[in-house]
Amino acid sequence: MSKIGLFVGSTTGKTEEAAEIIQKEFGGDGVVTIYNMTDAQTDDFDGYKNLIIASPTWNIGELQSDWEGFFDELDNIDFKGKKVAYFGTGDQIGYADNFQDAMGILEEKISSLGGTTVGNWSTDGYDFSESKAVKNGKFIGLALDEDNQSELTEERIKKWVAQLKTDFGV
Ligand SMILES: Cc1cc2nc3c(=O)[nH]c(=O)nc-3n(C[C@H](O)[C@H](O)[C@H](O)COP(=O)(O)O)c2cc1C
Repeated sequence: MSKIGLFVGSTTGKTEEAAEIIQKEFGGDGVVTIYNMTDAQTDDFDGYKNLIIASPTWNIGELQSDWEGFFDELDNIDFKGKKVAYFGTGDQIGYADNFQDAMGILEEKISSLGGTTVGNWSTDGYDFSESKAVKNGKFIGLALDEDNQSELTEERIKKWVAQLKTDFGV
């Protein structure tokens, strides 16, 4: 079994593409297994001490549709003792009042179920008004913006993964 389970929802493919870059950066599918939320099951989460949860924000501050459908199932997963990192894609110009809200919604839920959040990220270099993903002045996870800042994605991923390798101890 790989060391990290990465669970991603993605409607138009941008978050899924970022997940694949993150997997490569960690060292490939021997280290990170990707599960798409179109067909993920609650017991896919079992056995992982390290999780990465990924969702874009859709429909003005809402979860991506597969995560929306799975949200109540999260209650059936034991997150105690698990380290959980988050990333999302969003559009800080088009949706400045709801930038990356989905990441914040999932973090709030999963941390209330016992997950320990790792991998927060500075808000420097972004321009938005409000986000549910900001806590104590930082994003709770990696915020990517393929709509406006795709040229920064690879560099952001490299830096975040380097930080996470320490947090996860992999
Ligand atoms: C109708 C619509 C609503 C959106 N709502 C938000 C939003 O509230 N907040 C945000 O940050 N991005 C929003 N976005 C931008 C998407 O999150 C962004 O394009 C994302 O990268 C799509 O990811 P996916 O290709 O993995 O589905 C919206 C995009 C569309 C087309």
